[in-house]
Amino acid sequence: MLTPTEHDLAAAPPGAATVTFCFSDGVERSVAVPSGGSILAAGLEAGLPLTHQCRSGTCSSCLATLTAGDTGPVPGSNSSLFASEMAAGKRLLCVSQARGDCRFALDYASSGGEQVTTAQTFVNTVERVAADVMRLELELAEGSWIDFRPGQFIQLSVPGTDQTRSYSIASTPAQLPKIELLVRLIPGGVMSDWLLNRAAADAVVEIAGPYGAFFLREGEKAPHIMIAGGTGLAPMMAMIDQIRARPGRKPQILLSFGCTSVAGLFHREALALRQHWLPGLQVHLSVDHGAAVDGVRVGNPVEVVGQGGALDPASVAYLCGPPGMVEAARGHLEALGLSPENIFSERFVAS
Ligand code: FES
Repeated sequence: MLTPTEHDLAAAPPGAATVTFCFSDGVERSVAVPSGGSILAAGLEAGLPLTHQCRSGTCSSCLATLTAGDTGPVPGSNSSLFASEMAAGKRLLCVSQARGDCRFALDYASSGGEQVTTAQTFVNTVERVAADVMRLELELAEGSWIDFRPGQFIQLSVPGTDQTRSYSIASTPAQLPKIELLVRLIPGGVMSDWLLNRAAADAVVEIAGPYGAFFLREGEKAPHIMIAGGTGLAPMMAMIDQIRARPGRKPQILLSFGCTSVAGLFHREALALRQHWLPGLQVHLSVDHGAAVDGVRVGNPVEVVGQGGALDPASVAYLCGPPGMVEAARGHLEALGLSPENIFSERFVAS
């Protein structure tokens, strides 16, 4: 456990910047970051519990908010953040260097984000729920455990290969030891090949996690807006089920879910059931092309948000899907008056 204010600057190299991390429990910790070096690397070297995974700017696990000072990219690195997120102060610590002293706000406590653990699971169910989507239900093996927050993702080792793939969890922590995932089938993909040709009940799958800064902000009473494309629905299912399970007044939720075609739409019954359970849940279904059918419009899932009247500017928004959809949704919501810091997003990149 860190004490409220600690400094690790005694051996600061010449030209190093002082970077202060402000954890959500009020603890502040300062470290020296060498010129040109990754802020994340310096923080980890100093023993700080900074959440991270890929260390290459793609997974968003190391997301932090710059509250003072200036940063630049680590030479040769790429950040997956949008310009609008950068403008809102968001930074990926693994690919950021300090341009002078700076401060970062972290949305987890100094006891650390969730500890990443590996666990053994067995396949309970593997089923096709749409033309290009599989539902995979895993169950933790006896003696294995994993903690996560609704919205986060885990990494799976694809059996019989040396490859890993990351998927958002569609179930809640309360449903453990069961873990549900929605996997988009990709022609030639190693996970798709395993799911279609070799996966069977009781197959062993190793998982690691949790990862990601995309998770439900618990206790938030303002209206929730969720925009999901394809299997981006998975973390929304986890968040909706978490909200449903918690006691007290529930926030209004608007979920706009889009797929490419009616054949690709899935979980319609599951969503209808949740609307029955949660009267404050409103669902819009959209498909990119084809003809409109009962309850499904043609168009993208972004444009429909706000058509029913002005949004509460205090709303919190969760966006998950392909990068283009997420970027469009962020711009649309900001234009409708939502504050950038109340918009949380996760992008799916096919591999
Ligand atoms: S650790 Fe993955 S983006 Fe920084």
